[in-house]
Amino acid sequence: MYCVRNVTEDLYWVGANDHRLHLFENIHPIPRGVSYNAYLLLDEKSVLFDTVDWSACRQLLENIEHLLAGKPLDFLVINHMEPDHGASIEEILIRYPDVKVISTEKSFMLMRQFGFHVDGHECIEVKEGDTQTFGRHTVTFVAAPMVHWPEAMVTFDVTNGVLFSADAFGSFGALDGKLFADEVNFDRDWIDDARRYLTNIVGKYGPHVQLLLKKAAGILDQIRFICPLHGPVWRKDLMYFIDKYDKWSRYEPEEKGVMIAYASMYGNTEAAAQALAAKLCERGMTNVWVYDVSNTHVSQLISESFRLSHIVLASVTYNLGIYPVMHDYLMHMKGLNLQNRTFALVENGSWACKSGDLMQKFIHEEMKNMTVLNERLSLASALNDGKAAELDALADAILESMK
Ligand code: FEO
Repeated sequence: MYCVRNVTEDLYWVGANDHRLHLFENIHPIPRGVSYNAYLLLDEKSVLFDTVDWSACRQLLENIEHLLAGKPLDFLVINHMEPDHGASIEEILIRYPDVKVISTEKSFMLMRQFGFHVDGHECIEVKEGDTQTFGRHTVTFVAAPMVHWPEAMVTFDVTNGVLFSADAFGSFGALDGKLFADEVNFDRDWIDDARRYLTNIVGKYGPHVQLLLKKAAGILDQIRFICPLHGPVWRKDLMYFIDKYDKWSRYEPEEKGVMIAYASMYGNTEAAAQALAAKLCERGMTNVWVYDVSNTHVSQLISESFRLSHIVLASVTYNLGIYPVMHDYLMHMKGLNLQNRTFALVENGSWACKSGDLMQKFIHEEMKNMTVLNERLSLASALNDGKAAELDALADAILESMK
C-alpha cells in the first residue's frame, strides 16, 4: 500500500520510515527510527529526487507506482549516492528502463563502483550552476562536496523555491505520518536527534557545511521549502534550523553549560563527578549534565559536546593509560573535528595516576582550538575531605572561565 504526502501541489514525499534498523551506519542507535526521504515531482515530465535504503525499496516503488498511475518515470535526480539513499537506484533503473539519470560525475563513478547498471541509461552529468527544465519547473544544481560524501549536490527548484538539501538539514527519527517540522514540536522532541545526526554524521565536515550555507545565503529569500533526505521538511521558521546548522558547523557551542563525562570502575570517580556537579549548581550554574561514558553511547556524548561550552573529563587510570571508553570518546571528538571548548580534568589512580596528564596531552596535541583549565582534581582512589579545597577551586575555575 502506498504512503505519500504532498509537499506542494505537484511535489510528493515518496520516502519511507524505518523502525527496524537498530544502528544507523551500523554505529549509531536510532531508538526513534529514521526516515529515508525521496520526492516525486509530477510536472510535464516526472522526476524522482533520490531513492531510499534497500530495506525500504518496496515502499518507494509502491509510492511512485501509485502517483505515476501507469505513466513512465522520466528523470531520476541523485543528489547523494550513499546507500541509505542510493541503494534502490538499480531497482528504479530496472523498472523504468527509459529513465534518464541526472547526477554529478563523481556520483556516476560511485554508481558504477556499487555495481549499478547506469550506463544502459541516458546519464546527464551536471555541475554547479547547470539547470534543467521539466515543464513548469526549472531546477539548478549546486555542488555540496563532503556534505556528506564527495559526490553530493543539492538541487534548487527556482520555480517554487524547494531546496532538495541532501543530507544537510536532516535528522534521525521516523516521521510516522508527520512530514513538516511545523507538524511536530521540533525544539522539544526532535532537536536532540537532529544534533546527534548532524554532529556524528557530518560533524567532521563543518567547513564544507559552511560553504553550502554561504551558497544558500545567496538565495535565502527564494528558499521556501527545505527537503532533506532524513527527517522533517521545513516550510516555516527556516532560520531556526539554519542557525543551528551554522553553530554546529562552526563548532560554536549552542549553550553555556557543563558536560561532565566520567569513567569510573567502582563509583569513586563517579562520586567526584557528582560532587563537582553539585558544587557548580550550588554556585548558580545549573546547566550541568553528567554522563557515564561506559553506558552512554558515544554518539550522544558527541552531540552533547557540540551543544555545551564546557566539558569536564573525569577518568580513572587504566593499564597506565586513559580508561579505554574515555579514550574512545576522545578519539571521536578528534575525528569529528570538535573545537572551541573549555576542558577541565579530574583524574584518578590508586597508584601511578596517569589519566590527567594523558588526557591533557591528547587535547593539546590531537585537537584544535581547545582550552584546558590549569586547575585539576587529582584523586588517589577516592574523593575525601582533604580534596575539598581542590574541588572548590575546580568549580570556581570553571565558572570563572564562563565569564
Ligand atoms: Fe543519509 Fe550521507 O547519507
